[in-house]
Amino acid sequence: MNDHAPRAAAAAGPPPVILLRGITKHYRLGNSDIPALRGVDLCVPQGAFVAVRGPSGSGKSTLLNVCGLIDSFDAGSYSMSGTDVAGLDERARTLLRRERIGFIFQSYNLVPVMSVADNVDYPLRLLGVAPGARRLRVERMLERVGLSGSGARRPDMLSGGQRQRVAIARALVKTPALVIADEPTANLDSATATQIIALMRELGREHGATFLIATHDERMTTQCDQVLTLTDGVLQ
Ligand SMILES: Nc1ncnc2c1ncn2[C@@H]1O[C@H](COP(=O)(O)OP(=O)(O)OP(=O)(O)O)[C@@H](O)[C@H]1O
Ligand SMILES: [Mg+2]
Repeated sequence: MNDHAPRAAAAAGPPPVILLRGITKHYRLGNSDIPALRGVDLCVPQGAFVAVRGPSGSGKSTLLNVCGLIDSFDAGSYSMSGTDVAGLDERARTLLRRERIGFIFQSYNLVPVMSVADNVDYPLRLLGVAPGARRLRVERMLERVGLSGSGARRPDMLSGGQRQRVAIARALVKTPALVIADEPTANLDSATATQIIALMRELGREHGATFLIATHDERMTTQCDQVLTLTDGVLQ
């Protein structure tokens, strides 16, 4: 019987990148208490491309911030790739976020005073990767998102679609386990949005990254392995 245990474990595959059980989160605003997540269960396996949709105020960004270790939660459990997140102190959470999670936002959130290449390089610098290896990885990543000639430019010289390509390169350059994308196509025109979705999907496959995406965009949801709906903090 014991002989079979390792084989069974291998067949079960890696633990889910996101495993939430009964997550609740409230915001306190003065005397009022705003429930944002109400008992969310979620299991996202490694390599999945998952969308969360729902009306404005339904808790999408809150859910993404909890999964991205940006926000804490009040009750429930979160196991990220088998690590119990609630058991980590602030420093360990920050390290885990830096190493394992990339972020893509609606308004790109690039550092305006840094060049495109420096923006992409920044996560590698935080991780202490050696300069030579960093240069190579940044070059390759910029090439992959179609911006190899633009490394020296500042973000404000780029179009919205180009800025989002830089953000995608920055999110993936460290080969994270998880990419959190909050409305990544909301500021883009239709043709550009379609290109950005295809690029995210391709790079997700190439890097084996898991994507959790808040979106209203039907072009996005049709490309996803799973589409979940949040209503008033409850996930369906
Ligand atoms: N920092 C905050 N302080 C107080 N309340 C907040 C805060 N952030 C969010 N909320 C509230 O929590 C609820 C969920 O908000 P959240 O931003 O997660 O929704 P969302 O689905 O991302 O909405 P949208 O589609 O507009 O981006 C809302 O009622 C919102 O007003
Ligand atoms: Mg939001």
